[in-house]
Amino acid sequence: MKGVVLAGGSGTRLRPLTRVVNKHILPIYDEPMIYYPVKTLLDAGIEDILVISNAEHIGKYMELLELDFDANFSYKVQSEPKGIAHGVSLAEEFVDGEDFAVILGDNILLGDLSEEVKQFEETEEGAKIFLKQVDEPAAYGIAWVDGEEVTKIEEKPDHPDSDHAVIGLYLYHADVFEKIEDLTPSDRGEYEITDVNKRYVDEGTLGFEEVQGRWFDSGTPEGLFQASKAARDRKT
Ligand code: TTP
Repeated sequence: MKGVVLAGGSGTRLRPLTRVVNKHILPIYDEPMIYYPVKTLLDAGIEDILVISNAEHIGKYMELLELDFDANFSYKVQSEPKGIAHGVSLAEEFVDGEDFAVILGDNILLGDLSEEVKQFEETEEGAKIFLKQVDEPAAYGIAWVDGEEVTKIEEKPDHPDSDHAVIGLYLYHADVFEKIEDLTPSDRGEYEITDVNKRYVDEGTLGFEEVQGRWFDSGTPEGLFQASKAARDRKT
């Protein structure tokens, strides 16, 4: 299994913090944000890791990650923030036909996911998403589940009667690239990962797992603060 960390994007919700600095360099208590998704992959036994960011900041990640991690890093530039699915498409050559995990660079997961990753390699699932119950479902991509099956996924639903947020960790086989090729941009002009995952829902092959440990989307001021607080609590 290989791993992809998506660390591009615009970071508009964290302005002015992100006006001249890429979001994933910002501190989660005492470490740069990107250390968390990298550690999530490493803890799950994934050591071949592709980091994707914009041209302006990719060099900084090259410098930084080589200093503190003993992993096999590759790097790729996403020239424009055209969406998460677009970012994933840039990993095709790196993935080279293998199964892979995608983690969003601003997702802070404080639990162990090695079992789930191992299981995916042994099952027939087309892809796997990870869910966490949240208080404000209208702010997230939400999944509806029935037993072992994901029946629906919707991005920021108006009247959510499910509170299972789809977090920023996805497991795919290499056939995902064919699905991405068929996508068209959404109303906000991005290639949406939700649209990719919906294809698996339509096929009835999307697996899911409820995340047990704590999870934070640190892409908002409140999320950044709460993630930092949790990281501090763990360390002190
Ligand atoms: P988002 O938080 O959806 O987008 P963003 O980072 O541009 O922030 P904002 O909405 O506040 O403007 O992105 C989630 C993660 O995915 C984030 O860690 C950055 C990454 N990402 C990319 O790598 N490429 C992209 O094109 C996009 C949209 C996001």
